[in-house]
Amino acid sequence: MECKQRLKWLMLAMICPLIAGAPSSMSKSDNSCPKENLNIIGGSFVLKDGYSHGSLLKYICPNGYYPSIQSRLCQGEQWTPKPKIRKPAVCKKITCPNPRVFENGEVSPYKDKYYVNDTTTYSCHSDYILRGSAVRVCKPNGKWNGSTPICGPDHCPDPGVPPGSSRAGNVFNIDDKVTYRCERPLTLIGSKVRVCQDGGQWSGTEPQCYADFTYDTPEEASDAFSSSLKSDLGVSQQFEQEDQQGKKITMDQGGKLDIYIAVDASDSIDEEDFTKAKTTIKLLIEKISYYPVSPNYEILVFATNVSPISRIRNFKLNKNERSLERIFEDLDKFTYDNKGDKTGTNIAKAYSEIYESMVMEKNSNETAFSETQHIIILFSDGQANMGGNPKPKVDQIKHLVTRNDPNREKKLDLYVFGVGEDVNQEDINDFVSHKDEEKHFFKLPDLAAVQQMFDDMIDESTSVGLCGVVWEGLENKRRAFPWLAQINVARPPKGSNCMGSLVTSSYILTAAHCFLEGDTPEKITVKLDKDLIVKVKKYVLHPKYNITAKKHMGIKEYYEFDVALVQLEKSVKMTSTLRPICIPCTKETNAALKLSESEGTCKKHGKRGACVEDAKKAEGIEVKNAVEVVTDNFLCSGGTEPKTDDVACKGESGGATHVNKKGRVIQVGVISWGVKDICKGNNNRFTSVSDSRDFHSNLFSEKIRSFLKEHLENDNIGNPLTFL
Ligand SMILES: *[C@@H]1O[C@H](CO)[C@@H](O)[C@H](O)[C@H]1NC(C)=O
Ligand SMILES: *[C@@H]1O[C@H](CO)[C@@H](O)[C@H](O)[C@H]1NC(C)=O
Ligand SMILES: *[C@@H]1O[C@H](CO)[C@@H](O)[C@H](O)[C@H]1NC(C)=O
Ligand SMILES: *[C@@H]1O[C@H](CO)[C@@H](O)[C@H](O)[C@H]1NC(C)=O
Repeated sequence: MECKQRLKWLMLAMICPLIAGAPSSMSKSDNSCPKENLNIIGGSFVLKDGYSHGSLLKYICPNGYYPSIQSRLCQGEQWTPKPKIRKPAVCKKITCPNPRVFENGEVSPYKDKYYVNDTTTYSCHSDYILRGSAVRVCKPNGKWNGSTPICGPDHCPDPGVPPGSSRAGNVFNIDDKVTYRCERPLTLIGSKVRVCQDGGQWSGTEPQCYADFTYDTPEEASDAFSSSLKSDLGVSQQFEQEDQQGKKITMDQGGKLDIYIAVDASDSIDEEDFTKAKTTIKLLIEKISYYPVSPNYEILVFATNVSPISRIRNFKLNKNERSLERIFEDLDKFTYDNKGDKTGTNIAKAYSEIYESMVMEKNSNETAFSETQHIIILFSDGQANMGGNPKPKVDQIKHLVTRNDPNREKKLDLYVFGVGEDVNQEDINDFVSHKDEEKHFFKLPDLAAVQQMFDDMIDESTSVGLCGVVWEGLENKRRAFPWLAQINVARPPKGSNCMGSLVTSSYILTAAHCFLEGDTPEKITVKLDKDLIVKVKKYVLHPKYNITAKKHMGIKEYYEFDVALVQLEKSVKMTSTLRPICIPCTKETNAALKLSESEGTCKKHGKRGACVEDAKKAEGIEVKNAVEVVTDNFLCSGGTEPKTDDVACKGESGGATHVNKKGRVIQVGVISWGVKDICKGNNNRFTSVSDSRDFHSNLFSEKIRSFLKEHLENDNIGNPLTFL
């Protein structure tokens, strides 16, 4: 009822201007309109307000028809528009536009008019390929469904002719081939031959013509390598099924992944380069560790012979040792002198060793082998000068994995990084995979460019906000401590300086003793990264922090619960030089270490005993029982047993005490106080003496953890942490 009335009002509102415009002289007393000649052929009508002035007559037609006149209005005793006796209103059939012009094909049935529910089918003359809808139905709104069909000359689009190349093959239908050549002296990189596939795409990668001096920029290489690698590392959110277009199946997270890395260490590589090469491998492995997969690794160094650093079989067998730390250690242990005869560049031998390892894997479990994704990455700076042509070895590897089944080609990725100008690009182009739209050969001027490339490799979407991601091998020292914050509190005449650590994008963890009563947020300056100064919104001390709490017991200054959180006004943007450190007992940290939540990272760290006893040697402390000073809420470091620790100096208060686990850094304490300040007067590096001890607020302590949890879980400026 209500609805109808509303409809009426709506109608009136529309009609009102017309009524107002009608000349009043024409109106009669009755004002009603005639009842004759109003019918519609093939339909009916309804009246809003009978035959009286202002009533609206609306015509109704059955499905698939439309009225020749939509409606009439009673106005000045007449219906407008006027009904014509000769040409009454009629219900007409709805038609769809005529697909008369259809080049290079047939429309069937071919008719003058197409009505609702009429179906047309389209076919192309031979040698032409239909794109668009082959069957279209006329819809009640007078439109065809689907999309416009086109008969094109070819199944695949013209693959073009890249600069510097020439192409043989001008027919682009299914299974047709095109072949490329580069003008002399350029080398073809990419696919020499491409085949038009079912899905209308060309196989392989577009060829490019490289001169000797042509290099991939680190950005180009990093984009191409990561987009290719990503499909193996299961970054893609949905698990694509193999479709007609021959798209690859993305590995699920539990997928098995074996990675073989071979590094050229021949003559041309000096000691410095060799160290760089090791750093490069670490960087690569570390980058891969950010993805949600846990690959097995084999690492080989080759020159005349091949020296293994890590074997895939051992990696798989020693469950306890399959950590990245372990591989990094082995890499560090492997020195320049271990390399043996350095005169040759025996690429064939390197591939041959990888082949042997793969055969062993296959023999050990054939099912697992066939389910595994195999990645082989070779770094070489020169031309193979001994051991013969590596191509047959590469072919053996291909055959082992694919068993000549083209559908299995996706299980193998062969990458080569050619470093420097001696690289024989033509040979190497033959060793790599040529997968659809993926690049597998990269040519870079030097190892620094390779490092930069790996460095750029992780796109921000996958790594931003990851805690504890550091890189120690590179020039930029800030990258080793990206969480570092310098805190200055202005208190004329002399302010105080502390360190802190970024723990979320808007919180900095530091020591409570950095602040005194009356310090307001605007007096605090926080410096992050190089010159990034950020504003402070507020700071909170641990509620139990009380420096005078044990004065009466002979402890002049008491530092239990010496922790504070500084909240920034705005959350900071994460970069490779500005990232949070990991906080224990959080989901984020467990993810970093790839631990299950139940395994957790909430175990206590730190050695005690003698360490705690030494606290009594501190100035201003006169207690019998050291535990009065150093409660369980402290971690203790320093001394010379079992190993000589680094020491904390004044001005480092509030800084992070951290451990490096599997290449990710976790903060375990906040530097609080020490027995001796042995940094004074000394030069740069300070090492501990037997009784120089530092004490750190223990982040594993229940009461400190609950303080952090309270604030960091409810971070409403940055991204909050989830505590376990
Ligand atoms: C078109 O087909 C639909 C579904 O079969 C039917 O409901 C509708 O009445 C048909 N329309 C005409 C105009 O035949
Ligand atoms: C058009 O509609 C018909 C009938 O509903 C349907 O069979 C056909 O698949 C549709 N075509 C497209 C391309 O949607
Ligand atoms: C081989 O691997 C498959 C799948 O990965 C596994 O289910 C099977 O138990 C393995 N067989 C042996 C003997 O380890
Ligand atoms: C600190 O501890 C002392 C000694 O127990 C006490 O008198 C004082 O009120 C405490 N201060 C605060 C702020 O709790």
